[in-house]
Amino acid sequence: MSDGIPTHQPPKPLPYGRQWVDEDDIAAVVEVLKGDWITQGPAVTAFEDAVKAATGAKQAVAVSSGTAALHLAYLAAGLGPGDEIITTPITFAATANAARLCGAEVKFVDINPDTLCLDPNALKRAINKQTKIIAPVDFAGLPCAMNEINAIAKQHGLTVVADAAHSLGATYCGKPVGTLADMTCMSFHPVKSITTGEGGLVTTDNVAFAERMRLLRSHGIRPGKDGYTQGTAAMDNEGGAKNKSSDAAAGWYGEQIDLGLNYRITDLQCALGNSQLKKLGMFVTRRQQIAGRYRDAFRDHPLIDLQHLPESSSSAWHLFVIKLHLEKMRKTRRAVYDELRSQGLGVQVHYIPVHLHPYYRERYQHRRGDLPHAESYYDRCLSLPLFPAMTEDDGDRVIKTVLSVLRD
Ligand SMILES: Cc1ncc(COP(=O)(O)O)c(C=O)c1O
Repeated sequence: MSDGIPTHQPPKPLPYGRQWVDEDDIAAVVEVLKGDWITQGPAVTAFEDAVKAATGAKQAVAVSSGTAALHLAYLAAGLGPGDEIITTPITFAATANAARLCGAEVKFVDINPDTLCLDPNALKRAINKQTKIIAPVDFAGLPCAMNEINAIAKQHGLTVVADAAHSLGATYCGKPVGTLADMTCMSFHPVKSITTGEGGLVTTDNVAFAERMRLLRSHGIRPGKDGYTQGTAAMDNEGGAKNKSSDAAAGWYGEQIDLGLNYRITDLQCALGNSQLKKLGMFVTRRQQIAGRYRDAFRDHPLIDLQHLPESSSSAWHLFVIKLHLEKMRKTRRAVYDELRSQGLGVQVHYIPVHLHPYYRERYQHRRGDLPHAESYYDRCLSLPLFPAMTEDDGDRVIKTVLSVLRD
């Protein structure tokens, strides 16, 4: 209002994604703040247990981010200099970067142009003596062709580390994400299926992998009685065998037995995660409903292509991506992006293909044309707003605005 005259308020911009945090979440965090532990206390284990129950995985290791989850999973699989991972370029850079941080190399292979996930045939062709890990990415929330990928991995003795940053809550052949690979890495960044602010987690059925990740997330130090190895320097200096038993029993005793990091997640974050996890089903259902309306509205549009959803999968709908038929249009993708943004839709582009970032271009002499499906997808993609707290009106507004911008 100005001078008592109502002024037209433009509708609030809709981001492409955002968190849903309610009073229960806030109460759960406040409860931890009032307690004795604010980091690495009981809420961490409770969150890990809740993720195990939700996914059916036998082990869960919660960490400070999805990037940390990938890094620890790769380290647990023994990735190091001289090794290579194979992944897709249609992902966030972290999938590849975490391998480089292990000293390993990254081979990018093309996507299936319909599902937008790693193409198992391209994967088969790329495997070589250096390959140690396959890192499929459940792009936009859609699980990859895991039966094919796991069979290829088995044939070549490789470890599958699934990047499921987008897909917590999705299923493949009736099985939940979290149980479909040797290790599954999740992210709890605010736009993801559930949030802990920053945070991540690895699920696995492999106890040795889980133990190594637990060790490395906290400096490679084994606490308390488990830290007691052989006669170590610390004990020898203090009198050797005489002190062994008393030192090992002491509360302060924890030995560093490997080189680790501080990738710990806090009790505060895990309390939030635990509370969020109770709403995962509702979050994914809301995402599915909104995505269903978008698909109905855009399915037959002559200028729009949609991600193909195989019958065997249900998507967690992290992103709703459209592919524009630019060859039939007068407008560029940039113009469509700018117009939608100016009309309050926070559309995005996911992702610049990772092999075309300057760092990877220089390292592997990549250039345009190397991975044609990924590049063609990138040239014409847009992600539309999609998050559980969107209203029916928000959804209508997205559909109407997209149709009108493509009509002009
Ligand atoms: C596919 C993918 N992998 C990994 C990550 C890294 O997760 P985080 O941001 O929690 O480190 C992200 C996050 O954006 C992602 O989208």
